[in-house]
Amino acid sequence: MTKITRRDALALGLGAGALGLTGCGVADGKAPEAVLPGVPGLADRAKPKGLLFGAACEAHHLDQDPAQAAAFLRECGLLVSQNELKWAVIRPAPGLFNFQRPDRLAAFARAHHIPFRGHTLVWHVSNPGWLAPELAGGKGEKLLEEHIWSVAGRYRGMMQSWDVVNEAIEDFDNGHPDGLRKTEWLDALGPSYIETAFHIAHAADPKALLVYNDYGLDYANETTYRKREHVLHLLDRLVARKTPIHALGIQGHLRAGRPFEPQLMTRFLDDAASLGLDIYITELDVNDIDLPRRVSRRDARVAAATEQYLETVLAHPAVKLVVTWGLSDKYTFRNERGFKHWFWTSRPLPLDTKMERKPMWHAMARAFDDAPMRPMAGV
Ligand code: GLA
Repeated sequence: MTKITRRDALALGLGAGALGLTGCGVADGKAPEAVLPGVPGLADRAKPKGLLFGAACEAHHLDQDPAQAAAFLRECGLLVSQNELKWAVIRPAPGLFNFQRPDRLAAFARAHHIPFRGHTLVWHVSNPGWLAPELAGGKGEKLLEEHIWSVAGRYRGMMQSWDVVNEAIEDFDNGHPDGLRKTEWLDALGPSYIETAFHIAHAADPKALLVYNDYGLDYANETTYRKREHVLHLLDRLVARKTPIHALGIQGHLRAGRPFEPQLMTRFLDDAASLGLDIYITELDVNDIDLPRRVSRRDARVAAATEQYLETVLAHPAVKLVVTWGLSDKYTFRNERGFKHWFWTSRPLPLDTKMERKPMWHAMARAFDDAPMRPMAGV
């Protein structure tokens, strides 16, 4: 069962009776949005509040699936390079680049005048096998420079922002005083690899806004609290050293059913914003693995988790951008090998596999409608 809000109905000049709406706006049986194409998409709901909304996609989602491309254009005002700019995709061998997949995304963004957002220049995952030995062999500085300069430089002028460094803070206490994750980059270059990466990215694309991106910052538990402290400490250090960093990216991979503490989340956002940084929600989706199997119940819980989260974060004026990690349940890593539920297909995103709007879509639309206005993010 899919919901249409009263606001949607009123925007279309339709009375509740005409839509068969009762009580809180539940229509009977069919998905009403599927036959009401005039309802504005999420980016249009976000924009009046100064918020950018977009989704992460792979090239083939957009240039080989017309239904997904149409849904993307209806809903999104920003395109994120889901996996297409990761080292494993674009660096087949030392000294070689293959930009075929990201170039297809860039062409789509350009053709439709949609800002592009890059993910990610430095990460410990999705790297080609040849990288670790090269780093261990003392080529770290040269590789960092060559990679960021070539990749950020190629898309210079068209990126709204770049995730420069992804997930540099560890979840558990690994003995590092600053909580830095032990990666090949840290081993090769020491903690300064983070600020070096930001400096190179800024030189390669001076107009792109530069982001430190991480996960595990959302929920109410000791692991999260410790990670928040380490992230704030890292950001503080970067800002104090005049590193060109503009935003904290909070991935927002939610897990419905986990305890969420709005006040503590707000305090964390306050602390990050007090450093002069914007805040981006960069990879929103909802893990439904702990929820009831029945789709209507699961969808309702996913929507409720999304709404509670967005109500809290969007109330903060430093939050300028929301991206979902995928747009429709047709393309989500949560149904890929290694993440997939044993018995069911996950439904973590605002559109279903037929591109119809789910309760999560309505939760997001309501959260955008209810959000206070703020100065628009740089585009
Ligand atoms: C992380 C990464 C993304 C993506 C997601 C989902 O959050 O930042 O690139 O891989 O996990 O797999």
